[in-house]
Amino acid sequence: KNISIIGVPMDLGQMRRGVDMGPSAIRYAGVTERLEQLNYKIDDLGDIEIARAQKITDNQEGNLRNLKGVSDASEKLAAKVDEVITKGEFPLVLGGDHSIAIGTLAGVAKHYKNLGVIWYDAHGDLNTAETSPTGNIHGMPLAASLGIGHPALTNIAGYSPKIKPENIVIIGARSLDEGEKKLIKEIGIKVYTMHEIDQLGMATVMAEAIDYLKERTDGVHLSLDLDGLDPHDAPGVGTPVLGGISYRESHLAMEMLEDAKIITSAEFVEVNPILDDKNKTATVAVALMGSLFGEKLL
Ligand code: ARG
Ligand code: MN
Ligand code: MN
Ligand code: MN
Repeated sequence: KNISIIGVPMDLGQMRRGVDMGPSAIRYAGVTERLEQLNYKIDDLGDIEIARAQKITDNQEGNLRNLKGVSDASEKLAAKVDEVITKGEFPLVLGGDHSIAIGTLAGVAKHYKNLGVIWYDAHGDLNTAETSPTGNIHGMPLAASLGIGHPALTNIAGYSPKIKPENIVIIGARSLDEGEKKLIKEIGIKVYTMHEIDQLGMATVMAEAIDYLKERTDGVHLSLDLDGLDPHDAPGVGTPVLGGISYRESHLAMEMLEDAKIITSAEFVEVNPILDDKNKTATVAVALMGSLFGEKLL
C-alpha cells in the first residue's frame, strides 16, 4: 500500500494569491503522518515547479488567464502522475487551484479505458473561454478533460478527451453558470446539487453515485474542491458559496468511498491558507483523507 504525494503550488487558474501555498498548508496539517498511521507507505515527491504570473490580473489570451503557465504546468503534472501510476502507486495530488485537474486527469486517464470521476465541488468547472464569466481556468478543468475548450488545455499529454460525460458524477453543485447548465443538459452529466443532497441525504447520494460508477468504470478519480464544503467548515477557499456540504456529510462520503474500494487516484484542491482561519481548511482536507484511506472511529 503505497501513496505518492504530489504538491502543485498553482495559483495561475484564478486571481486570489495564496492558493499556491495549499500544498504547504496540507503538509503542515500532517498529511504524511495521518496516512502513515493507516499503514500506508508515503512517498512525498515534493512540488511540481510552477511559473510565477507577472501580474495575476493579466488576461491577454482570449479570456484564458495565464493559458501558457497553466498548460505548461499541466504537462509536467500529467507526466509525474503517469509515472506514479506506472510504478503501481496511488497518486494523491495536493493543490493548488482546480486548474491542476487538467494535468492530473491527463496523467491518470491513459491508464483506464473508462475512467470515472467524482467532482466534489460547489461549481461545475465546465466553462470554456466562450462561456466563462471570469476567464479563470480553474472554472474550466472538467470541460477541458471532456475535450471541450482550447486545444492548449484539451490536448495535454497528446490525447483528448480524457473522460466521457456518462462517467462523471458532480456532487455539491450550487453555483453553475448559464453555459455550464446548458452543457450539462446537452451531454448528460449526472449531477447531485445541494438540492438532491438535502432531499435524499448524503448516504443515498453516495450509494447511488457509487453504484452508478461501479457498473460503468474501471477506475475512479476523486477531484475534491474544498469549496464543495460549506464555507463555515472550509473557509480557506477563493470562491466560497454558502449552503454547502457539511464536514460530517463529507466524512460519510469519504467513508463510503473507502468501503466501496473504487477510488484509484485523488486530488484535494483550492486550499488557500491566506484566506483561512488558522489552517482549518487544510486540517479538514487531511481529516477527509484520513476517512478516504480507511480511518475508523472504532
Ligand atoms: N464558475 C466560475 C468561473 O468559471 C467559478 C469557478 C470556480 N472554480 C473553482 N475551481 N473554484 O469563474
Ligand atoms: Mn469550486
Ligand atoms: Mn472546482
Ligand atoms: Mn462516520
